[in-house]
This record gives sequence, structure tokens and C-alpha cells, in this order.
Amino acid sequence: MVKKSLTEAFEVKPRNFSSIENVKDYEIFSDKNLLEELRIKIVQNLIEENIPDDKLLDDYINNEIDKTLVGYDLTSLERGHVFSLIQNEITGFGPITPLLEDESITEIMVNSPEEIYVEIDGKIVRDETVSFINDKHIVRTIQRIVQPLGRTIDAANPMVDARLRDGSRLNAIIPPLSLKGPVLTIRKFNKNLESIDDLLRNGTLTVNMARFLEASVEAKLNILISGGTGSGKTTLLNVLSSFLGYDERIITIEDAAELKLNQKHVISLETRVTNYEGEGEVTIRDLVRNSLRMRPDRIIVGEVRGKEAFDMMQAMNTGHEGSITTLHANTPVDAMNRLETMILMNEMEIPVSAVRGYIENAIDIVIQIDRLSDGKRKITSISEVVGIKNGDIEIKEIFSFKQKGLMDDGSVIGEFGLYKRKPNVYDKIIKKGFTNISDIFE
Ligand SMILES: Nc1ncnc2c1ncn2[C@@H]1O[C@H](COP(=O)(O)OP(=O)(O)OP(=O)(O)O)[C@@H](O)[C@H]1O
Ligand SMILES: [Mg+2]
Repeated sequence: MVKKSLTEAFEVKPRNFSSIENVKDYEIFSDKNLLEELRIKIVQNLIEENIPDDKLLDDYINNEIDKTLVGYDLTSLERGHVFSLIQNEITGFGPITPLLEDESITEIMVNSPEEIYVEIDGKIVRDETVSFINDKHIVRTIQRIVQPLGRTIDAANPMVDARLRDGSRLNAIIPPLSLKGPVLTIRKFNKNLESIDDLLRNGTLTVNMARFLEASVEAKLNILISGGTGSGKTTLLNVLSSFLGYDERIITIEDAAELKLNQKHVISLETRVTNYEGEGEVTIRDLVRNSLRMRPDRIIVGEVRGKEAFDMMQAMNTGHEGSITTLHANTPVDAMNRLETMILMNEMEIPVSAVRGYIENAIDIVIQIDRLSDGKRKITSISEVVGIKNGDIEIKEIFSFKQKGLMDDGSVIGEFGLYKRKPNVYDKIIKKGFTNISDIFE
């Protein structure tokens, strides 16, 4: 397990507790019931009380310890652990702090005080090392996390989406919307998945696929990334965005800004939900429309889900090249169908054949990314949209990943493949002067 400090991960102000920083192991308590007893006392105090400002914090913790530990005989190691427990409560991440610090954990799902799941190596497993005292404790922790970000959660705002400072994404939903109790989900930003080299290293794609995708982005093809929930669409979008030119004006449009672009000339737009009176909503569609008046070289849309599909296809059809976006679908064909449905549902006066023409003309490449049964992410297909055949959008695969079977331990056996034909988009890429991929299709 690689641990990084909370300070580094979340820009929490450093505190002078370094001597106990690594003491997170509950094992140091000979008597687990005692620890639990202390923990409940501490947390109940904290839930009821207001936390003092930073200056008083050290004194406050010391006081709290003295108050709580009256009549208990603890070793200094145990006392140190209680100290870090309180510290974790106050700095805002509570019991899940060690999970956030653990780089091998990519997702944290709190279903109830005692029921916490984490994703490790692409697999979802129950975590029994941490727990909350009660529902109130979960809500308090959520509040502590989202308050500094300008968000709030309560009966009037029972649902919150937020992005932590390190790029991790948080969603929380509490009663009455959640019947079971407060539910917290954190998708951690993975620093080890920022470049194409990272994806090559973990086998998400092959070198030739990477070279092809780089050339496709540089040559300004319009690219659609398709995949299921948590398959790695946003991560791939972020990685492909690193191929965008440093001299281009890039506009990104997202629900909750997740993309991290290194280019300087980037304008990031984020949607807004309605206020209490149900007013003031700004949708992806509004932002796409607005972005067209901002002289973009590239428009990057985090995810297409609805009405904006039409505006995007229109933009791509009218000379806004080099857009990249993602969409929720299970195959490239499914992705085309979804796009078509999104447009037809909202633009009822346009005939199906015209919609297909729009899509065919707009999209050059569809990348399918999947989370396999062993938890690994793979680009299972890179396809091109070649035309309309018998009234349907025709797509042809260029690269693929075919699953062959499973090993005894459940890991997937499979092979990447390349079709022995030059794709149609190849000419488009060559025309823009990117010849460096000619060897791939020989
Ligand atoms: N190529 C990859 N290899 C290994 N892990 C990955 C890869 N891509 C993404 N992940 C991990 O998978 C999780 C989901 O990634 P990501 O947010 O990119 O998925 P998504 O398809 O955009 O999800 P959603 O449908 O929720 O928007 C993250 O924890 C991320 O670190
Ligand atoms: Mg996503």
C-alpha cells in the first residue's frame, strides 16, 4: 500500500502531528471495545459541538483528549491513535481518511455506517477496517467535506455533487431521497492515470492504438468515447486531451469539472443546477451553444446525455472539427443508436434519415472502453464511421480486443487485434500532414 499524506492529497493545512501520522492501525489497541467506546464519545461530542477555528484547534484536541480519557489508562501509542482519530474528524474526512490516503483505493462507497465498500484493482470489496458511528456521523462528515467547497447538504438540498481539490469527485445523497440513510460515493482522482504512457503500462491499449489515437486527435477528427459506468471514459478523455495543441483555444464543458488539461489556453465551463426556487439552471446544451460564440478551436464535452447531442452534431457538421466527447453505451453500434435516440427525442421534426446523416457526417471515430470481468480496463474497439448502408450508419472496426477466456484466478485472457486494411480516416489524417502512422497499416 502506497500511502500519501492527507496534506498532499487534499491541500489540508499541515499540522504538527507527524509523530503519529503513521499510526492508523487499530491493532495497537489491546482492547477493541475500549477504542470503540472512546470513539463514540469523541464523535458524539463533535457532532453536537461547533469546531473551533484553526488557531484553537490544537488546544481543542488536547482538551478533548483529556476530557475523554479521564479514568482510562492508555499507552502513549494508544493515546496517539485517539489523537489522530480526533484529528481525522476535525480536518473533515472522518473515518474514511485512511481510505482516501490509500493510493491503491480508487473508489469509496459508504452505504451505511457499517457498510463501506472500496474499489481496489478494479474490484469492489467490502472494507471492514473503518466504520461510522451512526447516520448523523456520515452526514456530518459529508458536510465537513463539502462546506469548504461552497456546497451544503441538508433536507432542502439532499443531493450534492462536488469536486475535491485534488480532482476527486464526490456524490452524496441523504434522506428523504435515499431511503436507507445517507450514501456517500467518492471517485478518487487517479494521479497514475494521467498520460497515455500510464494507460500503455497497465495494458489499456497497445502502442499502435495509442499512436493512431494521437494522430487522430492532432488531425482534428471528431471522436466519441463510449463505455459503461466507471469504464474509464473520463480518464481516457483526459488522456486524449493531452494531445491537443498548445496553440489551440480549448473549451471544456462538464457537469462537474473533472478534466485536468495542461494546456494554457483552456476555458472550462461547468453546468449549474437550479436554486431553491427551481430557477437558474444552466445545462450542457446551453453551454455548448454558448461555446460556439467563443471562437473555439476545440470543444470538449464531458458527456453527452440529451438535448446537447443535436447541437454538437450540428457544430461538428458546420466546421467545428476535433471535438471529443463521451457517451454511455456498451458497443460502438449501441453508441450510434444512443446518439440517434437523443436527437430524435428532442428534435421530433427531423426525419430519422437526416439524423443518421448528421451523425455519420459528424463522427469520425468511436472508441469503446470497457471494464472487464477481472476489473481491468481495456479499449475493446476503435472503429470508424464510414457511411450509411441500407439506411443505417455503417461503422468498421480498426482495432479490437477479443476476450479468449479466463485464467483460474479469474483474470481475463485476450488479444488486441488490428484489421489488415487502411481505414478511410487514414486519408483524412494524412491530408493534415500526419504521416507518422503509415507503418501501422502496412
Ligand atoms: N485505463 C484505466 N486503467 C485502470 N483504471 C482506470 C482506467 N480508466 C479509469 N480507471 C479507473 O476507473 C474508475 C472510473 O474511471 P472514470 O471516471 O474515467 O470512468 P467513467 O467511465 O468516466 O465513469 P462514469 O460512468 O461514472 O462517468 C476510476 O477510479 C479510474 O481511476
Ligand atoms: Mg465519467
